[in-house]
Amino acid sequence: MDWIVRPIAQGLRGVVRVPSDKSIGHRAVILGALAEGTSTLRRFSFGEDNVSTLKAFEAMGVAHEIVEEGSGAKGGRLAIHGVGLFGLKQPIDGKPLDCGNSGTTMRLLSGLLCAQEFGSVLIGDPSLSKRPMRRVLEPLRQRGAHCRGQKHPTKDDETAPIRIAPLVEGEALSGIEWKLEVASAQVKSALLLSGLYAHGTTVVQEPTLSRDHTERMLQGAGVPLRRIGSVVELDPSGWEGKIAAFDITIPGDPSAAAFLVVAANVIPGSVVRVVDVGVNPTRTGAFDVLRAMNAGAELVSKGDVSGEPIAHLETSAAIDEDGVGMTATMIGGELVPRAIDEIPVLCVAAARARGTTLIRDAAELRVKESDRIATMAEVLRAFGIDARELPDGLEIEGKPKGSLRAATLESKGDHRIAMSAALLALRGDGPSTIRDVECVATSFPGFARTLNDLGASIDEV
Ligand code: S3P
Repeated sequence: MDWIVRPIAQGLRGVVRVPSDKSIGHRAVILGALAEGTSTLRRFSFGEDNVSTLKAFEAMGVAHEIVEEGSGAKGGRLAIHGVGLFGLKQPIDGKPLDCGNSGTTMRLLSGLLCAQEFGSVLIGDPSLSKRPMRRVLEPLRQRGAHCRGQKHPTKDDETAPIRIAPLVEGEALSGIEWKLEVASAQVKSALLLSGLYAHGTTVVQEPTLSRDHTERMLQGAGVPLRRIGSVVELDPSGWEGKIAAFDITIPGDPSAAAFLVVAANVIPGSVVRVVDVGVNPTRTGAFDVLRAMNAGAELVSKGDVSGEPIAHLETSAAIDEDGVGMTATMIGGELVPRAIDEIPVLCVAAARARGTTLIRDAAELRVKESDRIATMAEVLRAFGIDARELPDGLEIEGKPKGSLRAATLESKGDHRIAMSAALLALRGDGPSTIRDVECVATSFPGFARTLNDLGASIDEV
């Protein structure tokens, strides 16, 4: 499927929701599966990534029911019949578990499955099959797991398929103290999940704190976990090894909301409110960056829901027809893990800001769903923006005034590239075409419809 995106003549206006948080959705399915009894997940997003996790557990004998259907931003109500910490079953016929496009599914399940007494194989789509996996397999092996990936085709690394052999009788995972060179919630979570089964303490230290949903949910479930700054420690000794069934309402995904905030910021005359968005401080780096650019949104707190803070985002145009308003900025350091998934859309903001925006310390972007440094540089240049690739970031020369050049380009199978390109296309000097946008269903099903509800014109063809 392609999108034909027409330039927008007036501002975006309205009140919208975004799909619920993908990161929290994965974790809620995992903990729901390991809990005793039936857990309820409200506003669960049936985006493809979350569904990959759900199907993997279905294959391991964890039943679920869709109590209330719901697509796009609405989400649905899901009941998961947990099997307890030791109740997962070997996938029938030893069939591989397909993680689709979802790195979170593959890395978190690696941690969980290497602690089981059955073997498993994790596979993914062509994009996921190129992503580096040693970062998670290496520490798991060091604590006694039998797991390995395939040799990476181009790097000194491992990739999917990941083969996990069972722990044999008498074997157990050991405690571990692991210091991450690059902050990663996926690696941290894989170690914590394997740590639930370990004979010993799991300590993970990150250079700066990455998203902490796993820690919050485990603590909420009564797992003995302590944290200070960017260090987390899980000591299961003395814990009875039981997670009680729970009821969770999943907040709107701030990574999805960031697209609507930037869209409103860069389109003159816009006034948009995005309701019930998760604003966990480990996720709000993009809003801090936008604030530094004289843009962003006002976060109107709505308190805590299921252990996560939520807010309505009140946002409006930060730029006028003469290109006055937004200013360039620098993104680096501790801001990067707090905005890692939003950097493509922050490039859109940079493209319309006055001055040169510099993004550094973000080499991780090269190993996401696509090499986001290279693909974003290409996308920006296709729309007539001067963008220079750096080893760990980008330098972007803003063009705040007038239209951008309309373009035809590929998503490269990367949802966040497709959506960022669509926002640039709204300011094009004619219709633009973005090809292969099916990938957007991994994180933001209904993206085009949501923007159209606000006044855009995006046709799916
Ligand atoms: C995620 C962690 C981040 C992020 C990804 C989701 C998670 O990846 O980019 O989209 O849910 O734990 P890293 O842990 O590789 O930084």
